[in-house]
Amino acid sequence: MKNITLKVNGKICELEVRDSELLIETLRERLGFLGTKYSCLEGDCGVCTVIVDGKNVLSCLMLSADCDGAEVLTIEGLGKDGEPHQLQKSFVEKGAVQCGFCTPGMILAAKALLDKNPDPTDKEIEKAIDGNLCRCTGYMKIVEAIKDASRKIKPNDQISISKR
Ligand code: FES
Ligand code: FES
Repeated sequence: MKNITLKVNGKICELEVRDSELLIETLRERLGFLGTKYSCLEGDCGVCTVIVDGKNVLSCLMLSADCDGAEVLTIEGLGKDGEPHQLQKSFVEKGAVQCGFCTPGMILAAKALLDKNPDPTDKEIEKAIDGNLCRCTGYMKIVEAIKDASRKIKPNDQISISKR
């Protein structure tokens, strides 16, 4: 067992975790962030993607004990005061959400990209989401939505969100 401190969506969480406890378990089962989905638990599908210290990671492959002191962003931490983040708006507006199972991970992979590269090409977007599987949309609408968000996000939004 290990005592760790995480900052999740801006809130400090102190907890004791098992040595084998995965970050996805801590987020979903201990802290109640059910927007982080799980499926393969082997690093193959990307639905468990969250952002840790500014990088998108697969929370099914990460031990919570190794995240002590980390800042974690889950889908619940995007947007504020009931106002969806532009990526969430663009996904809905462009029809990039069908069953929605891949969507939280897809959006967080996109956010990690746009934080680093606010004006990505289609190829760069495709590369950024190539670890995130979608069984429904065929990806074109997802790429379109990310492109749309990149055009609409103002530089100040990027800065304030990435500092959360
Ligand atoms: S649950 Fe599939 S990559 Fe994590
Ligand atoms: S919208 Fe269903 S898996 Fe992507």
